[in-house]
Amino acid sequence: MKVAVLGAAGGIGQALSLLLKTQLPAGSELSLYDVAPVVPGVAVDLSHIPTDVKVTGFGKDDLASALVGSDIVLIPAGVPRKPGMDRSDLFNMNAGIVKNLVEGVADNCPDACVGIITNPVNTTVPIAAEVLKQKGVYNKQKLFGVTTLDVIRSEAFVAELRGLNPANVTVPVIGGHSGTTILPLLSQVEGVEFTEQEIKDLTHRIQNAGTEVVEAKAGGGSATLSMGQAAARFCLSLVKGLQGEDTIECTYVEGPGDNAKFFAQPVRLGKKGAEEILSYGELSAFEQKCMDDMLEGLKGDIQKGIDFAS
Ligand code: 2OP
Repeated sequence: MKVAVLGAAGGIGQALSLLLKTQLPAGSELSLYDVAPVVPGVAVDLSHIPTDVKVTGFGKDDLASALVGSDIVLIPAGVPRKPGMDRSDLFNMNAGIVKNLVEGVADNCPDACVGIITNPVNTTVPIAAEVLKQKGVYNKQKLFGVTTLDVIRSEAFVAELRGLNPANVTVPVIGGHSGTTILPLLSQVEGVEFTEQEIKDLTHRIQNAGTEVVEAKAGGGSATLSMGQAAARFCLSLVKGLQGEDTIECTYVEGPGDNAKFFAQPVRLGKKGAEEILSYGELSAFEQKCMDDMLEGLKGDIQKGIDFAS
């Protein structure tokens, strides 16, 4: 497997690259790209870790070399939020960055699976889809918005509330990756009952967890370490899938469009990427109301991406 990380010298990129260096299967390659001049140094630094994963760094003029032969491209490049900002406030800066990088993917590794981390994910994924379409290489089975951070936060917060081992907690999270579009299905957590108030509070905390980090970092950025872990989990599941061992992750993909053109839900990952969009089952009355209330916003986020790219 060759995995390229675009934006590898940033906070998310470095954490993600470290986790991939230590956890990708033996014989893999890790290709680190960034416009920041420190990227060759990040690659040298990681290369001193004794795992059978070859790491190479590529600077700003070497996007093509970084991408050629990649099976998976992960894109955390872009600017993070500061206190008071919503993810959509990043649109002006990050939309163009994602567009350029995805053009590079289309030109150099059009068959790669692409995982978009750059915010606002609700909008940058539709931008990526449009760019790939314009280049004639769009395959909806291979484009993913990485929403795994919402899943791991949900697992952490549920485990914390009930004193459980987080390794034994599974929470599907559907919808998008911003505010109320993040919809954790707490009614489906096995073996745990919540009061109505707990459900309200937990849902609110999960939806605002990114902001919790932004405020705690007080101007120093947004989640990087937990996002790195989330993206690594998603990437390693995708690697397993591509290698023939099916796995399931919630991720933001173009599905049948029952709710919105792009929607996060459980997806079976296999040799072709997204092999099957799975049902997310029955919603509780509370979850259905959350869904009804947020769908227009999610659709607006998606349309904004389509309009930008065209
Ligand atoms: C978050 O949810 C960075 O969007 C990311 O914290």
